[in-house]
Amino acid sequence: MDDPQHLSAPTTPADSSPTTTVMRAIVQDAYGDADALQLVHIPAPEAGADHVLIRVRAASAHIGDWHVMTGQPYLMRVMGFGFRSPKARVRGMDAAGTVAAVGANVTAFRVGDEVYGSCDGAFAEYATARVETLARKPAILTFEQTAAVPTSACTALQALRIGEISAGQRVLIIGASGGVGLFAVQIAQAFGAEVTGVCSRSKIELVRSVGADHVIDYAETDISAIEQRFDLVLDMGGNRTLSQLRRCLTPRGTLVLVGGEGGGRLVGGALLRSLRAVALSPFVRQRLRMVVSATKAEDLQTLNDLIEDGKITPVVDRTYPLSEAADAIRRLHSGEARGKIVITV
Ligand SMILES: NC(=O)c1ccc[n+]([C@@H]2O[C@H](COP(=O)([O-])OP(=O)(O)OC[C@H]3O[C@@H](n4cnc5c(N)ncnc54)[C@H](OP(=O)(O)O)[C@@H]3O)[C@@H](O)[C@H]2O)c1
Repeated sequence: MDDPQHLSAPTTPADSSPTTTVMRAIVQDAYGDADALQLVHIPAPEAGADHVLIRVRAASAHIGDWHVMTGQPYLMRVMGFGFRSPKARVRGMDAAGTVAAVGANVTAFRVGDEVYGSCDGAFAEYATARVETLARKPAILTFEQTAAVPTSACTALQALRIGEISAGQRVLIIGASGGVGLFAVQIAQAFGAEVTGVCSRSKIELVRSVGADHVIDYAETDISAIEQRFDLVLDMGGNRTLSQLRRCLTPRGTLVLVGGEGGGRLVGGALLRSLRAVALSPFVRQRLRMVVSATKAEDLQTLNDLIEDGKITPVVDRTYPLSEAADAIRRLHSGEARGKIVITV
């Protein structure tokens, strides 16, 4: 990725005026695997009237970055990500950094504030974000830890809320060792639930270390065949059928479908299953729900409170320099990561 032909322009000092800054960024001009990612110098973006320009210190990767990189499932291309090639050239969505400039309408943040959230083109020295997707960085976390939070933790929080989690409930988290799952276990514990996590054998201790009361190895145990029933099931991993998942629920339990890889290249198996679940829900006693998550400032603030109270600690697997972003994405997709993959900028 350090191919000199992509590094022709000099980088100005990191904190110089953003209007004249040429920045390093990870871009992609065609859909493909991680080899399609290039480190180049391009002009830094400018903050629109309702936007903040962030000097990115750290960014994190999640499986959504892989989907945008590959353009799969193909439905995404029709939904506006770019039909033949990615519409947005710079990869990355989650970042933590320092406010470098604010748009004319922005009053919530000032230059120099330490912030985090979802933004456009996080794998770069500068990225823009809408104010509604940002919050102040928790003082007790590093930029690297903070960057791990936005999409994954907001998804976990929103999924648990959709499931109407409450204290004392028995909650099953399928995919507990993943980016979303490691937050979901901690947040469910903070709500006072009894949490059972499902993951691979090699990550059992990891899931236990973030507070799961019980952990099941999915290769060893067929979770739809266990006797125990759960008030709430969050599904983030594997591609079990709806009937297999419903078997894990109490008669009036709630299933929240977050995601899962595999399935068709055209639409993606998880989306079809989620839509079927929502259509079926009115006709059964169990509640079947799906999540379409979004990073929101008020949810980041709730997460900040949980972080400051010591209820959530982001788990970072590895950090990679920006120049090795392609390796970061390869590790993300390998399934070997034990926590979030972070890119330092
Ligand atoms: N609906 C939304 O708005 C939304 C938002 C964010 C993410 N998502 C989706 O949610 C899913 C999870 O995201 P993520 O970032 O947490 O992904 P991730 O970090 O790749 O985690 C995947 C999880 O699935 C587990 N898993 C794999 N195979 C499994 C199986 N057969 N049975 C049970 N668990 C299995 C993995 O366990 P091991 O690693 O231990 O094998 C891991 O815990 C993805 O499909 C993503 O696209 C949806």
